[in-house]
Amino acid sequence: MGLKQRKIETNAGIQNELTVELFDQFARGMRDKGWNGVESFIKAGITGGRVLEIGPGPGYVGLEWLKSAKNATLTGLEISPAMIRIAEGNAKEYNLAHRVSYTQGNCMSMPFPDYCYDAVFSNGSLHEWEDPILALREIHRVLKPGGIFCISDLRRDVNLLTKGFLYFSARPKEIRPGMLTSLSAAYTIKEAEQLIASSNFQEILVHKDFCGLTVSGRKPR
Ligand SMILES: C[S@@+](CC[C@H](N)C(=O)[O-])C[C@H]1O[C@@H](n2cnc3c(N)ncnc32)[C@H](O)[C@@H]1O
Repeated sequence: MGLKQRKIETNAGIQNELTVELFDQFARGMRDKGWNGVESFIKAGITGGRVLEIGPGPGYVGLEWLKSAKNATLTGLEISPAMIRIAEGNAKEYNLAHRVSYTQGNCMSMPFPDYCYDAVFSNGSLHEWEDPILALREIHRVLKPGGIFCISDLRRDVNLLTKGFLYFSARPKEIRPGMLTSLSAAYTIKEAEQLIASSNFQEILVHKDFCGLTVSGRKPR
């Protein structure tokens, strides 16, 4: 049986207060297991400077990265005000509120000037972006020359066993239907390769891993 067509999950991010609360519990659990995706950002060369995170949600991924990047500052661009409230509380818990700020906005039209970030990263948000090509153009615009970006997300072309693993390891269990809708909205490797072919980055790569994909690249100097 062939892979089903991509099914849009949301174009407005995660806004519902109850879902935001459940997602915070889920993401905290992932953080506690050490499954936070930070390694791929470090591997891509994002280790410091003035950095932008797209779709930080409750903030754990960016906060874990910031903890390891001693002289960095982080801006989280998040479409959902409810997520920003949670992320700000979590930043205080990490004692990192002086190095991170959250801005409400949409990554398809970023409220930032050109050439202002050394690096951009994002985890688990790509599948919710209404127009990823436009988002890649915005990433290109806000990056300084030589700047790096790294976007990690689920992928829809995982095998059934991996899908089952992702479903049953998602806790609290109320979040599990959301895991399935996110997987249905995620891109396949082939689709991600088609997206990057339309971007204005010259050096850009798609990497496949066990349950997801990573798109990374550099803006020419
Ligand atoms: C599934 S959550 C992932 C949160 C976090 N990055 C993590 O890995 O735990 C996706 C987040 O992206 C945000 N988001 C979705 N579309 C967005 C957009 N166009 N611009 C900015 N944020 C967006 C959602 O509101 C949500 O908080």
